[in-house]
Amino acid sequence: MLEISVSKSFNGFKVIDKVEFKVASGEFVCVVGESGCGKTTLLRIIAGLESFEGEITYNGREINRKSIGFVFQDDRLLPWKTTIENVLFGIGIRKKIGEEDVELARRVLRDVGLRGFENHYPKELSGGMRQRVGLARAIVIQPEILLMDEPFSSLDEITREKMQEELVELWEKEKKTVIFVTHSIEEAVFLATRVVVLTPRPSRVAGEIVIDLARPRDRTSANFNRYKKEVLELLKLK
Ligand SMILES: Nc1ncnc2c1ncn2[C@@H]1O[C@H](COP(=O)(O)OP(=O)(O)OP(=O)(O)O)[C@@H](O)[C@H]1O
Ligand SMILES: [Mg+2]
Repeated sequence: MLEISVSKSFNGFKVIDKVEFKVASGEFVCVVGESGCGKTTLLRIIAGLESFEGEITYNGREINRKSIGFVFQDDRLLPWKTTIENVLFGIGIRKKIGEEDVELARRVLRDVGLRGFENHYPKELSGGMRQRVGLARAIVIQPEILLMDEPFSSLDEITREKMQEELVELWEKEKKTVIFVTHSIEEAVFLATRVVVLTPRPSRVAGEIVIDLARPRDRTSANFNRYKKEVLELLKLK
């Protein structure tokens, strides 16, 4: 269980008022809120990249940064490194890369649909493929918690839906704890076991909605749209 209770100001300017929520192991929580409400800041705080007031515990203890994988909104790949070198980069910082690491990276690349692209450079990949590399790079360190910051927002709608479906499949297989930030209500309802809605800045939790829909989810169903409406109603709260 990840328990979050944080506040954050930048130069006396309050961004996060007091955001409190819990995430159970294996849950897929989507955090939704309007632009500038502090979603990226929140993820950076959880990842240990930003100072904050409050407390974050993981199973009652301080959270170990090594158990966290981060997928950024922009892919942040190193242009002079190949796909597999980019995926292995994080491991290479921590230790000498061994044969087993290369094997794992190959497997992860297969899992995210990039078999055959191990030796391509970022400029030889499409936007969607680069995001897959970003996902592979986060997964390869075998994190318990995966933080994802609007990873699909720059993709076209068809690619985006495909990536969402693949992410759900991967999550069902690996059962990692996921906190996924988005400002797309549809994306949140499609992906999440629970949606945490933030108010505009300074953000608080406006409410939480458990998405009790079977998978694969049908975006056109009446129930799906009922959940979308519920999230939208919460987003309108100040
Ligand atoms: N390093 C920083 N120094 C000063 N202010 C910052 C810093 N980082 C973020 N902020 C401010 O904090 C607020 C929240 O920013 P953040 O990037 O967390 O928003 P967001 O919810 O992720 O927005 P978006 O949906 O547009 O990505 C903004 O007003 C931003 O200007
Ligand atoms: Mg952001």
